[in-house]
Amino acid sequence: MEHVTTPSWAMFAYLISGVLFILALRGLSSPATSRAGNRYGMIGMVIAVATTLVTHDIAGLPEIIGALAIGGGIGFVIARRIAMTAMPQLVAAFHSLVGLAAVLVGWAAYLNPNAFDIATGGVLFIREHYYGVVGGVIKSQSCIEMGLGIAIGAITFSGSIIAFLKLAGKMSGAPIMLPGRHVINLGTIIAILGLVGYFTMDQSLWVIGLITLLAFIIGFLLIIPIGGADMPVVVSMLNSYSGWAAAAMGFTLHNSAMIITGALVGSSGAILSYIMCKAMNRSFISVIAGGFGAAPEASGGAPKEQRPWKRGSAEDAAFLMKEAESVIIIPGYGMAVSQAQHALREMADVLKKEGVSVKYAIHPVAGRMPGHMNVLLAEANVPYDEVFELEDINSEFGQCDVAFIIGANDVVNPAAKTDKSSPIYGMPVFDVDKAKTVMFVKRSMGGVGYSGVDNDVFYMDQTMMLLADAKKMVEDIVKALAH
Ligand code: TAP
Repeated sequence: MEHVTTPSWAMFAYLISGVLFILALRGLSSPATSRAGNRYGMIGMVIAVATTLVTHDIAGLPEIIGALAIGGGIGFVIARRIAMTAMPQLVAAFHSLVGLAAVLVGWAAYLNPNAFDIATGGVLFIREHYYGVVGGVIKSQSCIEMGLGIAIGAITFSGSIIAFLKLAGKMSGAPIMLPGRHVINLGTIIAILGLVGYFTMDQSLWVIGLITLLAFIIGFLLIIPIGGADMPVVVSMLNSYSGWAAAAMGFTLHNSAMIITGALVGSSGAILSYIMCKAMNRSFISVIAGGFGAAPEASGGAPKEQRPWKRGSAEDAAFLMKEAESVIIIPGYGMAVSQAQHALREMADVLKKEGVSVKYAIHPVAGRMPGHMNVLLAEANVPYDEVFELEDINSEFGQCDVAFIIGANDVVNPAAKTDKSSPIYGMPVFDVDKAKTVMFVKRSMGGVGYSGVDNDVFYMDQTMMLLADAKKMVEDIVKALAH
């Protein structure tokens, strides 16, 4: 591969694509502007890729078209087929590819530094003569960028694979605790950093090989002790890592678009991880250190299923809601599974016509990915001003007549406030127990939420269990409201 100095117009094009990526993030911060945001991102990516292809003698046109067709074709098929509920594992799988790409680019630069313009001036680089020689012909700064990029990329790769396996249910979501894991993890991270420093002096194959190997191992070790309940934070954290890996590679390749994009992904992923940790009342460090989401066997209490509970019908629910002054709807994962959002909106429309105040309460980790509920409600054209975040609506349950919980469980589980042995202990939850009537739409009494714990609200006096598929139940309620 021949290195070509980047012309100034190309730098400008990279800058434009960087600005478009920033606009994309800005657009994606609200459902109303998210489509425009997506478009900015797509245009930015086309400009960045086209500029790179034009200014670098990377491959011939047929090869580029072939690669685009294969990659684009696979992406298109996956995007068409993937269920909304399987999105988190898909995102984890894609992150693993970003990590692997960073590792491969790093290795390519190491094996052919002249092509990447990172060899020290004037030295004719002959790899065969070089192995094992202390001294180094790659610039020290490039060694650090390359070493860090490869290390972060490898951690992202193996960590994302474990996250994918756990989220897809192909591996138990339970934390796997190795004895002395904190010491092993810390020791390995220090060893990797030490090796990256040493790499500036000795660029032998074994150094970069060991960095890569240790980083693959630490990615694996860091994620296996993390329990299912903390997986959302892990996915956004890996997202952040993949960004930093790309930014490090951007420095190695002198590619400003990659540096900007990597930094944007890295920092937005880090901010998202922080927001989610706050939403789940977790400390970021304890999530990363692992094992925080351990689900104690006994949590949720023993024979709670034996306790009495009340079953209601669609007609009962329709009658009570029609009589109510205010209804707060709390959607969760089950609404997504059954795609009940359109029927739900129809139900809300009928209730509003009857003079009932209807609001939607969204928990930051409801569903299976950040913004999951917002996307579904937006798809069903639920007005944004009826949708409220946890902290803005939680104080209203005391005055609310009906809390209508549809396919949610963990986000309304009071054990998070009271039961120290519960895996969700400490996560802020909706105070639905304060509502006059609580309606729970779910398929069975046995089905538990993501964290696998029972919910005391099922058995409260004011609770009515509406056992059915969410969409079917809401459609039946709409029919009953019409009578
Ligand atoms: P969950 O606690 O997982 O509860 C889902 C409920 O939906 C269950 O009670 C289930 O009961 C019911 N359900 C499933 N399919 C249904 C259907 N077709 N019709 C009706 N009900 C159905 O959901 P949640 O309250 O949204 O909590 C989210 C959980 O996922 C949290 O623990 C969170 O940490 C975790 N998580 C979140 C994310 C993000 S970023 N949002 C990512 C990964 C994990 P039945 O089986 O009895 O129907």
